[in-house]
Amino acid sequence: MKLGIVSDTHDNFDLAEEAVSFFEDQGCEKVVHCGDMICPATAEIFDADFEFYAVRGNNDGEWKLKDTVKKFGNWMGNVGELSLGGYRFAVYHGTDEELASGLTESGKYDYVLRGHTHRKKVAESENGETVEINPGGVKLPFQEEELHVVIIDLEDGEFDFHRLEE
Ligand SMILES: [Fe+2]
Repeated sequence: MKLGIVSDTHDNFDLAEEAVSFFEDQGCEKVVHCGDMICPATAEIFDADFEFYAVRGNNDGEWKLKDTVKKFGNWMGNVGELSLGGYRFAVYHGTDEELASGLTESGKYDYVLRGHTHRKKVAESENGETVEINPGGVKLPFQEEELHVVIIDLEDGEFDFHRLEE
């Protein structure tokens, strides 16, 4: 079973559609969005051929976003927990760095999935038992980095970044 991870798609319909197609092509059964979809219409793009989970990002102010996600997927609020393939996941947008690192250092999770910085990143907890993964986000005006997504193979826990282009 494969898990797709995406974050900070920020109303970019084209990239959100590209991410969805990529996850479907790769056979992802589940997809997590780590926040900042922003408008409900972006969320609707993720109503696709996989089970969908999302947390709230700091720019997700529209009340209808939650209701839209709940129609077809799982709305996890500000912080979510998942247990998939024997691995424990925390999902948090990453607005508060202290909270993000608290999750990573808590010893409760194998993976902490986050976003917010729009920069892809992998970091290990001090005890080496938890991996924090940030897939990145849409390219901000001052950035070079394009949107990436991550796919985790839940058979062995291996994961890869994939760059999406507009
Ligand atoms: Fe963002």
